[in-house]
Amino acid sequence: MSHVRPLIAGNWKMNGLSADVDSIADLAARFEERVPATRVAICPPATLLMEMSRRLAGRGVEFGAQDCRMESAGAFTGDLSPEMLADAGAHLVILGHSERRAYHRETDADVAAKVGGALRAGLEPIVCVGEDESQRDAGRAVEVVTSQVRGSLPSALGGKPFCVAYEPVWAIGSGRTPTVDQISEVHRAIRRELLELFGESGRQPPILYGGSVKPQNAGEVFSAAEVGGALVGGASLLARDFGAIIEAF
Ligand code: 13P
Repeated sequence: MSHVRPLIAGNWKMNGLSADVDSIADLAARFEERVPATRVAICPPATLLMEMSRRLAGRGVEFGAQDCRMESAGAFTGDLSPEMLADAGAHLVILGHSERRAYHRETDADVAAKVGGALRAGLEPIVCVGEDESQRDAGRAVEVVTSQVRGSLPSALGGKPFCVAYEPVWAIGSGRTPTVDQISEVHRAIRRELLELFGESGRQPPILYGGSVKPQNAGEVFSAAEVGGALVGGASLLARDFGAIIEAF
């Protein structure tokens, strides 16, 4: 198990309007005391980052972005740089989410380049990996995930704060979750890969699990080997459910 604090992060994806900032204010009030032991983060759409981070400054909840470009500025219409996201109040940035890999054709090399940009801006990357259903059915889950880890994590990450999130594509938004043994197998393989890539400092990064985490299954998910937190999609949109998941860790 990692020696650093576990992280429970909510990925709001393309959900949330300014009216929803209130629900996070309620959540923060509930978890102010718990936060020293467990890190709690919300990754809202970029449009809400500044308002959320200003309203909740000093309340223990951290904020993250869901993607960034690798460059710091330039002629990239519609994109956001890591520096802009840090300026808007982000501490973290999710990179290589399977939805970015699928809908924006991001490769491991793209993700590694974005990680470099995030580090330059002082953002902590949460790098996502995970097999799809056909890869799992073919018995290739560990092979696919370790290859993504190797390709998406540049050596510049050594000794820096970062997280890996294991998110099996078939478990995202589907209500299906892997068994405890399946999560343990992949998380152990990711830890082995981190030790190989970064030496002893590879013991530090929390390895989060993501994919249909709900209050009802969070305890079981968290009992798997090498699980250092969760990346929560749908259930993070309801402060009550997200709160129950934080409490289950
Ligand atoms: P769900 O929790 O909605 O399955 O989403 C998981 C996810 O993709 C988090 O990044």
